[in-house]
Amino acid sequence: MRQDKPSRTAYKVALNVVTLGAKPGMDRFFPPGTVQATEKLLVASGAAGARTVRWSRSQRMVSVYEAFDWMLPGQFEAFAHRKAFCERQVRDGIDTGATQILVLGAGYDTMGWRLAPEFSGVNFFEIDHPATAHLKAKGIDAMGRRDNLCLIAEDLGKEKLSDVLNTNESWVQGARTVIVAEGLVMYLHPEAVRDLFCQCAVIAGVGSRIAFTYILTGADGRPDAGRCTGLMLWLQKVAGEPWTWSIRSEELDLFLEASGWTIAPEQEGATRKHGVEFYAVATK
Ligand SMILES: C[S@@+](CC[C@H](N)C(=O)[O-])C[C@H]1O[C@@H](n2cnc3c(N)ncnc32)[C@H](O)[C@@H]1O
Repeated sequence: MRQDKPSRTAYKVALNVVTLGAKPGMDRFFPPGTVQATEKLLVASGAAGARTVRWSRSQRMVSVYEAFDWMLPGQFEAFAHRKAFCERQVRDGIDTGATQILVLGAGYDTMGWRLAPEFSGVNFFEIDHPATAHLKAKGIDAMGRRDNLCLIAEDLGKEKLSDVLNTNESWVQGARTVIVAEGLVMYLHPEAVRDLFCQCAVIAGVGSRIAFTYILTGADGRPDAGRCTGLMLWLQKVAGEPWTWSIRSEELDLFLEASGWTIAPEQEGATRKHGVEFYAVATK
């Protein structure tokens, strides 16, 4: 990822959310307030101009995204399902006693900002690469800070998660936590992914869970994006954020076990696939 520039993929996810919000019927899937908060954040942070957001909301843009679905079938709508999956895991986790939420590679996701006032006894933490995190922090400042939402700017490929969190006075090591890694691990190198899951197991207490999305490795050993895999991998590379991690389905249980987690397919939505991504939950 480009060190000095805010993430293009986080920007694209946020604009996709805005456009998808304009598609009739999608409000059934998005957690309430997601689309509106994303629009607000994009403008308030300066990540996108008001005109870009207005344009993204147009039916013409909906048609453009729908036309591009030939390349990655289901990917346009996948973002609503992904947001819903992550928020469901966070709400379930809080219902069963989690007192901390940690969103890794948060981008312009608004879940922490939206849920923090509803769950004032829970501490929300977000970590992203500094260039993206700083821009987001500007937006959150303008939209209204939350006392129990902490934005942390760090490169997870370079810094140890436990080191990053232990310097934060609100973080309670070993507390029951819901960790969310939405659209993140495919952008990290294999050693960084293994290390991240291991560190997550160290910082989170018993009863914690990690909800994440991932891409399967195809028969040719590359991340499998369907019939347009070659084109997709090239586009990601040109954009400066290549997919560098994927996993074979039969290896996931062992991978998680070796990192201190147990796959939890019984969790709602945990074995779904929307677009190119699979969703999973693991518990500790
Ligand atoms: C595809 S975006 C997803 C954003 C958000 N999770 C969402 O789904 O709306 C990937 C995010 O991971 C972040 N990211 C990638 N590599 C990272 C790293 N080494 N350290 C911290 N964040 C990273 C990017 O900055 C970006 O915000």
